[in-house]
Amino acid sequence: MVDFGAQYAQLIARRVREAHVYSEIVPHTASVADLLAKDPAAIILSGGPSSVYAEGAPSVDPALFTAGVPVLGICYGFQAMAAALGGTVAQTGQREYGRTQVEVAAAGTVLGGSPDEQTVWMSHGDAVHAAPEGFEVLATSSGSPVAAFEDKARRLFGVQWHPEVKHSPLGQQALENFLYEGAGLTPDWNPGNVIAEQVAKIRAQVGDARVICGLSGGVDSSVAAALVQRAVGDQLTCVFVDHGLLRSGEAEQVEQDFVASTGVRLKVVDARERFLTALAGHTDPETKRKIIGREFIRVFEDAAREVVAEAGAQGEVKFLVQGTLYPDVVESGGGEGAANIKSHHNVGGLPDDLQFELVEPLRTLFKDEVRAVGLELGVPEVIVWRQPFPGPGLGIRIIGEVTAERLDVLRAADLIAREELTAAGLDREIWQCPVVLLADVRSVGVQGDGRTYGHPVVLRPVSSEDAMTADWTRVPYEVLAAISTRITNEVPEVNRVVLDVTSKPPGTIEWE
Ligand code: XMP
Repeated sequence: MVDFGAQYAQLIARRVREAHVYSEIVPHTASVADLLAKDPAAIILSGGPSSVYAEGAPSVDPALFTAGVPVLGICYGFQAMAAALGGTVAQTGQREYGRTQVEVAAAGTVLGGSPDEQTVWMSHGDAVHAAPEGFEVLATSSGSPVAAFEDKARRLFGVQWHPEVKHSPLGQQALENFLYEGAGLTPDWNPGNVIAEQVAKIRAQVGDARVICGLSGGVDSSVAAALVQRAVGDQLTCVFVDHGLLRSGEAEQVEQDFVASTGVRLKVVDARERFLTALAGHTDPETKRKIIGREFIRVFEDAAREVVAEAGAQGEVKFLVQGTLYPDVVESGGGEGAANIKSHHNVGGLPDDLQFELVEPLRTLFKDEVRAVGLELGVPEVIVWRQPFPGPGLGIRIIGEVTAERLDVLRAADLIAREELTAAGLDREIWQCPVVLLADVRSVGVQGDGRTYGHPVVLRPVSSEDAMTADWTRVPYEVLAAISTRITNEVPEVNRVVLDVTSKPPGTIEWE
């Protein structure tokens, strides 16, 4: 998948994998030679924000279309393909955004099984006016004289709309038509395939060296640890860092759920003072994230020395395993041309003088794929289905300076919210529900006939498929009421509970 800066780039990659075909995203700046070096079975050109004819707009090297690899262009990719092969792209004066009707003139390959008229999701200003020579026009819409085309002999295909979004009801079918019929691929990839591949890769990378893994007890690091344990067994020691930013009961849970079932060697480090001291006086979210990322690494470095000393071994621990996922990389600005939305502690928060070589077997996967890998590896279900909790923990859920007292307040409120959501049977329905303490905001209340001047906490329940986009979860009022009543009764410092009703975008899931 060649990314032209598309809002939906990750979604296209996901949809292809849902069709049981492995996909990777490469930036549009990659040369045709680089692309072909990956030996792709098919190429998809994504949408993008530019106009094909604008100065500096990314273009497609026409050599891509003579390489014999089937290509599907989507939106901007469709227009770039048309322009590169001699078609005409121009403004129609009629932009199409959102649900749009297209007339299907000929089903061809990609629109096989489509009705004569269908609803699709469009988002474009320019349109293809004339298809390049040799192409058949498959569909039109009022704003797109050519809304889909194909050249069957050269196995080149294109659609103006976004088949990857759910608002194009037949979109997945179109993508699968391209992959199976157009490119002749067999749908035989599943996340389980990752295991054999990664085990071999980890063995090749690590050899017989010692490895440590930062284990948080969450699904990502647990699955990463289980994969590495399968690859190199006893060479692995997991390090659990109690940075004081954890939720209630978290440290105990790791031992109980993960260590008991895997028998992995675990080293617990009490680094509460160290993190609190480093965070003292800081309120800027990116600064907090970078401090936490740095301190994690410093703790791992100390732990690595101890692991070697305890084993009476020579040498050093050269490798650090992290459960980094694809969205962490993308949001930290890891994708070419992608904005740094926030520095995830394990990517953008790493210090420059990192002493370890990283082992990140999940770096190309989405959360649901990681869950599938975890289940296949036998990681206990309580871990596989745990809701996400960010590595920087409550440190990025206290808006303002992080102090021991504020952490205690937030921990108490968070525990109540979790207890009530679990009691209401909502754990699987909700992706996660951050509880955020607005530590620098105070509001007046009345409790027990007296005036209070306390702090608000925010409930942020969200539903999501992969954390790249999310909607706020419509938690039943009675559950919200129970949470609110209990928090204001049981946590004296909090006198107000508010609900965050923002989707992502525009809001991110965490407040910082
Ligand atoms: P945002 O706030 O970016 O969060 O919408 C997306 C998902 O990522 C989690 N998150 C993190 N996880 N380290 C992590 O391990 C981080 O620095 C980090 N920041 C956000 C967040 O909880 C949500 O699931």
